[in-house]
Amino acid sequence: MSDLQKLLSYREPVFNAPMAGAASGALAAAVATAGGVGMIGIPAATAQTWVDEQARMVCDLELPWGAGFMGWALERDLSAMEWILDYDPALICISFGDPTRGAALAHEAGVSTAMQVGNAAELNRALEDDIDVVIVRGAEGGGHGRNEIGTLPLLQLAIEQTRKPVIAAGGIATAHGVAAALACGAEAVWVGTRFLACSESSAHQRLKERALQAGMDDTVYTRAFDIAQQLPWDPAYGGRAVRNTFSDRWADRIPALEEKADESLRREMVRARTEADVTIAPVYAGQSVEFVRHTETAAEVIAELAEFREVLAHTAQRFS
Ligand SMILES: Cc1cc2nc3c(=O)[nH]c(=O)nc-3n(C[C@H](O)[C@H](O)[C@H](O)COP(=O)(O)O)c2cc1C
Repeated sequence: MSDLQKLLSYREPVFNAPMAGAASGALAAAVATAGGVGMIGIPAATAQTWVDEQARMVCDLELPWGAGFMGWALERDLSAMEWILDYDPALICISFGDPTRGAALAHEAGVSTAMQVGNAAELNRALEDDIDVVIVRGAEGGGHGRNEIGTLPLLQLAIEQTRKPVIAAGGIATAHGVAAALACGAEAVWVGTRFLACSESSAHQRLKERALQAGMDDTVYTRAFDIAQQLPWDPAYGGRAVRNTFSDRWADRIPALEEKADESLRREMVRARTEADVTIAPVYAGQSVEFVRHTETAAEVIAELAEFREVLAHTAQRFS
């Protein structure tokens, strides 16, 4: 049993990624119940009542769970983390911003910390003492992150550089993908896109349908959606989403979009998101959206991913 497994006592080395808008308490609870680690995605701006509601769905199960935050939002306001810490999570993940203050708060409460890293410089930051678990997150991944290094090279670098537990994220969606990450030295996998269309995901039905239809060639990495909404994301972090009319128009014309971004465009994007108009609003998903083929329960996904054991046994046999 690995140190991480001892720390978090999961059966299956599968964490659902804390996807704001999709990984709410229901998905986290379903993943934890199925043997993985359930992560709640905390949006950049949220109300305490929402946080309380989500945390209550999972905290009484006495199963491993945690929450993921945007670092840049915590730099401004730590309240959402204070609310979550009242429910005794096992893991706090801080990504896309300076994790220093949030990690200190988590450690004060005796909670382990993780950080998603997307290049060698971020990996170096995560090797400092305040981060316990390193999540290497390749450019293939869905949602926000860096578009710089693929999962496999980053994973190999992390395995060489640290003895901290390393989790692999980005493009992992099948038992073969899990087997590859574990064989490369990851302790576990962090899976977002494959859980997006699950019945327990809180994503809007139209977003799920779009993800179900999309294939591997249909994603785009862009800051266009954030610029239109005037969200204060660091330009180092764009998002990978299923292409749509809006991204086709603007993804290659970012300076022009920055000039055009006004209140009416912001309102139009907010409307599109509220109404789940997938021709305009982002449907964040990674290249592994190919493997989102029908609506499943989180338990079905975990059961399929758990077949990595057979894949590894078969691989060992092939080369013995
Ligand atoms: C719809 C969606 C929303 C996401 N939201 C967040 C988020 O709120 N916080 C976060 O740390 N990561 C978020 N991510 C990124 C994931 O943590 C993770 O890096 C990614 O899903 C891994 O790649 P995969 O989608 O190929 O599995 C999101 C990903 C997706 C697909």
